[in-house]
Amino acid sequence: MSKLFEPISIRELTTRNRIWVAPMCQYSAEEQDGVPAEWHLVHYGARATGGAGLIIVEATAVTPEGRISPWDTGIWNEEQTEAWAYIVDFMHSQGAAAGVQLAHAGRKASTHSAWSGSGSISLQDGGWQTVSSTNEAFEGYAAPRQLETAEVSDLVQGFASAARRAQDAGFDLIEIHAAHGYLIHQFLSPLSNKRTDIYGGDLENRARFLLEIVAAIRAEVGEGMPVIVRFSATDYVEGGWDEVQTAQVANWCAEAGADLFDISTGGLVAGVSIAVGPGYQVPIAEFVASRVDEPVAVVGMITTGEQAEQILQRGEVDVIMIGRAELRDPMWPLRAAHELGVSVDYWPKQYQRGTF
Ligand SMILES: Cc1cc2nc3c(=O)[nH]c(=O)nc-3n(C[C@H](O)[C@H](O)[C@H](O)COP(=O)(O)O)c2cc1C
Repeated sequence: MSKLFEPISIRELTTRNRIWVAPMCQYSAEEQDGVPAEWHLVHYGARATGGAGLIIVEATAVTPEGRISPWDTGIWNEEQTEAWAYIVDFMHSQGAAAGVQLAHAGRKASTHSAWSGSGSISLQDGGWQTVSSTNEAFEGYAAPRQLETAEVSDLVQGFASAARRAQDAGFDLIEIHAAHGYLIHQFLSPLSNKRTDIYGGDLENRARFLLEIVAAIRAEVGEGMPVIVRFSATDYVEGGWDEVQTAQVANWCAEAGADLFDISTGGLVAGVSIAVGPGYQVPIAEFVASRVDEPVAVVGMITTGEQAEQILQRGEVDVIMIGRAELRDPMWPLRAAHELGVSVDYWPKQYQRGTF
């Protein structure tokens, strides 16, 4: 029996299989207004027709300053919400669930897109002053301004308001982006958080920003909607954020209303050495899974149906996230079903004559 193609239920959401498309920035809000556009409809729509259980749309900013680049999507106003609703409706029409990754890039904001250059965009060139837990820059980037304590609470509210808009747009799931060296990770890691207020110091204080966000989102969206957290489970640096702290904070997040943990790594410190290879984040996701009661998702160089199936059959993690393999092939889930000999009933009728 395939586990990959077994549905999974979290609160009121059931996804048709355990293949979830990982959030991937498209840098394609051409007007620089955070509004998703035709590219996003076609891109996310194609992945919905391809059979994914859930598609988590890219890091979507909760405030304008929270965008990684000027071309990132946002969900801080009604125009963006309506544009997302149109895209979400299409994903639903194809049987896929839709999630959104709510994000704030902190000191890694105001940067170029993957293809427009590298490093920070200056104020003169349309960039903006970034903010962070600290006033120390990420290597090669402009220095951020350290957030005042009251501003941190305002941002918690920003995440909650964004979650309400996401719900209005019809999204089925919220993912909080606490990974990859962005703002929440900047608060979590002792390497980038040397604050002396209630948001800095011991683990509980460093986790406070995230825990307040989880609780505020849960209060805003009610009991039915899944709220999940993406962590980078290690900074790959001695004395940095690690898997033990991740598991502890994940447990606190669960108490605050989070339902699943999506385990990635890295992004806080530039130039660290990471032994990248097939399924390289599986052991660390399994470690976190062994210490939490909630389901865990794993991501990172999972490229074939057989590999994904084997990871789930080990019985430690519950969901497979596919990133770049979905960029190469939006039909990845239907192809995997064919390769594993699983029969599914969600081939788009328009494509049935092309069934593998
Ligand atoms: C083009 C691109 C954009 C990405 N954007 C995001 C993002 O918005 N949020 C995030 O958490 N991770 C992002 N990632 C990381 C992916 O979600 C995923 O964790 C990573 O690519 C590893 O999985 P893979 O080997 O299956 O691609 C991005 C990756 C790529 C390739």
